[in-house]
Amino acid sequence: MPVSSVFDTHSPQAGAISRLFLLSLGISAIIFLLVVGLVLYAIVRYRGQPGQEDPTPVFGMRHLEIAWTIAPAVILLGMFGLTVTTMRATNPPAAKEADIVITGYQWWWDVRYPQAHVVTANEIHIPVGKQLRIELKGGDVIHDFWVPQLARKMDMVPGHTNELLLFADTPGTYLGACAEYCGTQHAWMRIQVIAQSQAEFDSWQQAQARGAAVTADAAANQGAQRFRQLTCSSCHAIGGTGANAQVGPDLTHIASRNTLGAGIIENTPDNLARWIANPHAIKQGVLMPNLQLSDADVRALVAYMEALK
Ligand code: CUA
Repeated sequence: MPVSSVFDTHSPQAGAISRLFLLSLGISAIIFLLVVGLVLYAIVRYRGQPGQEDPTPVFGMRHLEIAWTIAPAVILLGMFGLTVTTMRATNPPAAKEADIVITGYQWWWDVRYPQAHVVTANEIHIPVGKQLRIELKGGDVIHDFWVPQLARKMDMVPGHTNELLLFADTPGTYLGACAEYCGTQHAWMRIQVIAQSQAEFDSWQQAQARGAAVTADAAANQGAQRFRQLTCSSCHAIGGTGANAQVGPDLTHIASRNTLGAGIIENTPDNLARWIANPHAIKQGVLMPNLQLSDADVRALVAYMEALK
């Protein structure tokens, strides 16, 4: 798994935030050392000696009082200016159609590419070197979209759309997470942003825009049938099959994703079987119910999902 560090940024926006953080930390460190240094100096220099009388108290010292009022005001104004400049640098491009619409749910991310009619979940593919305008929505409670190496943090508020500028300067996988406590599985609301060359991104998008793969595999077709008969289709959509519920993640191309349960386990056939058999054993409190399926049903559904490349 790649490491996600706020010091290893891959967009001008995240770079500006990282520099502001370091600068603020530096200014705070200087002030801290100055205050501690003066206190230590006073403790040593003016330590009481045996037999010494109490010193005469000093009341008021105008020039010192003016200095310690003005100095913090100047420092704070400077930091305010730096913050405003950084905020400007990270604002999304105005008056541009949304490239991607992302909605936070307990505890996963719905990801839509409106122009290409692509729907996916938790893993966000983007072309490298492009400024993308992202619309962020809250599906149930407040979540917060944060991919530290690429963009600023942004809340996802039900009933209110927020905007974000997403940009990656190098291909790679960038990790993110929900940054607003949103319930028991807040910690397992992970994001992968997969930045690719334009050509790779285009072919990914074309593949995702197609309906579900049709297979001749008997077990997979058995699984497709069970998917319709069981209550799976009351919550999940699979493009081109008539299943179009939007309660849980879209499964049209689930086999093409890296992880399950918003990052909690790798997407392997074994893990998928464990997930379908009892999602709560893997992600306690997840809103997908345990359907008490037979082993045969689990096997058939896994065969079907594995065909959904
Ligand atoms: Cu979603 Cu925390």
